[in-house]
Amino acid sequence: RPTLDIVVLPGDGIGPEVTDEAVRVLDWFVTHRAVPLRMTRHLFGSAAWAAERTAMPDRTWAAIMAGDAILFGATGSLDQTHIPPEERRKGALLTMRRALDVFANLRPVKAQPALAEASPFKARTVAGADLVFVRELTAGVYFGTPRGIETLPDGTRRGVNTHAYTDAEIARAARFAFQLARTRRNHVTSVDKANVMEAGRLWRDVVSQVHAAEFPDVTLEHMLADNCALQLGRAPTRFDVIVTDNLFGDLLSDCAGAINGSLGMLPSAALSAPDADGRRRALYEPIHGSAPDIAGKGIANPLGAILSAAMLLRWTARLPAEADRLEAAVASALDAGARTADIAMPGEAVLSTRAMADAVIAALDAG
Ligand code: NAD
Ligand code: IPM
Ligand code: MN
Repeated sequence: RPTLDIVVLPGDGIGPEVTDEAVRVLDWFVTHRAVPLRMTRHLFGSAAWAAERTAMPDRTWAAIMAGDAILFGATGSLDQTHIPPEERRKGALLTMRRALDVFANLRPVKAQPALAEASPFKARTVAGADLVFVRELTAGVYFGTPRGIETLPDGTRRGVNTHAYTDAEIARAARFAFQLARTRRNHVTSVDKANVMEAGRLWRDVVSQVHAAEFPDVTLEHMLADNCALQLGRAPTRFDVIVTDNLFGDLLSDCAGAINGSLGMLPSAALSAPDADGRRRALYEPIHGSAPDIAGKGIANPLGAILSAAMLLRWTARLPAEADRLEAAVASALDAGARTADIAMPGEAVLSTRAMADAVIAALDAG
């Protein structure tokens, strides 16, 4: 097995704090399970700007292009207004997602039995929830043109974004979702606003076509996005694979964060189409942001980042048994009572970011 080059981009705020722990956990797999990974940290975004007056150093970009995957922390510093817009765009997460064409954003959400009380929902409602979003990541309103803020002749300002999807962009997200469903419980919920938006009508149309032509064995249901937000809280166990657009996927996956009581629990993987050898470009990151409210205190929950590392073991290293091992270690650390502040109940002992990762590593050691 050739060594896989992992480009580590810690980013801003709690990004470096949680990424350090994900790297430490991956190091455990290098040492104890002979997983062939080489992890190298690179400057990106505001940190790169501070050090080198560019948000995307050539060296970082070259490493990304030559590497096998990116392990990303978080982006978003309190004040980026000192960085020129052109540089900010170069170093933006969105620019990177688009340039790598990682259109399929997997965001799995699994109710942790140990966290039933940390959830704002009733334990009996979330018990057994196990769903995954396939969020389309490189099109839609995040990228559509025209965009901008224009000033009309009468001085009125008008902010403009364009929500647009081509049939090809919809079809590849749908195919990914149906294929994934075949490895799970064979059920896809496609989420749109076909009642209001033309792009939503096309979404529904194309998903149905792909379904009928290629995946008639998978059960497909369509759901309006507002209802989906409700059902994620009311009956999360009814979902298996949810395929949706860039913006709805962003919002709905944060909603699903409540199932385990914190955004800090959720991982993600953004994947491109496979090349001839079946390899995909990949960007792994927790779904949370830089959390400026808790940054620098060493109290952030590293489990979203650590579970993102498990996704790296599954999708880039293609070692599902090692990924299962890590997910089981996270569950067993939680079962043993390990809690960061965001998932602790009153009276429960609270661990630092580092100590939570130690608890996962102890669970790995215990095998
Ligand atoms: P956020 O995800 O940073 O935080 C939302 C809330 O969740 C905060 O209360 C925060 O303390 C909490 N939280 C998040 N991660 C946590 C963790 N690991 N452990 C414990 N608590 C955690 O979202 P925000 O506050 O709306 O945005 C802050 C900045 O992050 C913005 O600049 C935003 O653009 C950026 N952002 C980046 C990403 C990313 O890098 N992928 C994702 C979301 C937001
Ligand atoms: C996410 C984030 C990003 C998004 C931001 C930081 C651009 O919220 O990854 O969920 O909206 O995609
Ligand atoms: Mn988000």
